[in-house]
Amino acid sequence: MSVSPATSDVSAVTNDASVPTGPRTVLITGTSSGIGLAAAVAAARAGWRTVATLRDPARAGALREAAAEAGVEIDVRQLDVTDPDSVEAAVAGVVRDHGRLDAVVNNAGAGHVGTLELESVAEVREVMEVNFFGVLHVSKAALPHLRATGGRLITVTSVGGVVGQPFNEAYCAAKFAVEGYMESLAPVAATVGVGVSVIEPGAVATEFVNNIDLDIEARIAAAGPYAGALRSYIERTVSQFTEGSAQTPAGAAASVLEALTAEKPAFRLQTTEWAAAFTGTKLADRDGSAVLGITGAWVS
Ligand SMILES: NC(=O)c1ccc[n+]([C@@H]2O[C@H](COP(=O)([O-])OP(=O)(O)OC[C@H]3O[C@@H](n4cnc5c(N)ncnc54)[C@H](OP(=O)(O)O)[C@@H]3O)[C@@H](O)[C@H]2O)c1
Repeated sequence: MSVSPATSDVSAVTNDASVPTGPRTVLITGTSSGIGLAAAVAAARAGWRTVATLRDPARAGALREAAAEAGVEIDVRQLDVTDPDSVEAAVAGVVRDHGRLDAVVNNAGAGHVGTLELESVAEVREVMEVNFFGVLHVSKAALPHLRATGGRLITVTSVGGVVGQPFNEAYCAAKFAVEGYMESLAPVAATVGVGVSVIEPGAVATEFVNNIDLDIEARIAAAGPYAGALRSYIERTVSQFTEGSAQTPAGAAASVLEALTAEKPAFRLQTTEWAAAFTGTKLADRDGSAVLGITGAWVS
């Protein structure tokens, strides 16, 4: 086994014997729309001091409206998961202003449609930047503070973090990477009192598909030998979102709340029966308890 030299000084923030006082505080990324927005409102409703972050706070209109409608207060702050300085500043600001950080919800993410021959390596790197390295930046900045509170690190992955899907090679690779990282981190984080969970939605009716910004006909026209397959894939996907079979953002956010509040949340939480059945086609250990039972014993 090789152990690389430490690149961070973990002694800078120790496990403080006195847990900070005041309401439990959660930081959520990507709250301009969709699951992040719904999770922010649900967490505030459940009594959490909720720090809802966006890469562009000017896009907080829908979030503020939803919070006002629900009669809850939300602390809105800037955080771009791909910008380490912005991540560090946001996490430090929360701890400075609220005195504690009890949970992080890595929700920010972006879809991508492509396939090996039709996309550049640079595009794949971009997908990894948001969906994988973004999660890493936030988790690394937060973990010392989560240790101080015995907190929770929650990441919205996808059924695509377990099952690879056509024309989603880069997206699924990023989500698989997050799942592998978090499954490996979970037993280690547990030794310092931090719980780790991943949330696996199937289709959710959010801005996710619109945000991919896909000119469908142009893409199909440029897809050469893949045109027929791409058309079938897109038609199936669009019908999932237009025929009402997609879950509501509030439904997916309920699983985030479960990971935040359950006494002992599972490592993996699928957000619908369909997502449970789909991931179950690959996972003998659907909620991750069997694997963590084994790997947890290696470090206890
Ligand atoms: N919808 C689905 O069918 C589905 C299924 C499985 C998993 N998921 C996952 O669920 C999570 C939430 O997605 P959603 O469905 O709620 O879609 P969404 O409505 O598009 O929300 C995605 C959020 O991520 C934010 N974001 C993107 N890049 C960011 C960055 N660099 N820094 C900070 N925030 C960034 C977006 O902000 P902007 O407004 O600034 O773009 C937006 O607030 C994602 O991780 C996604 O992969 C979604």
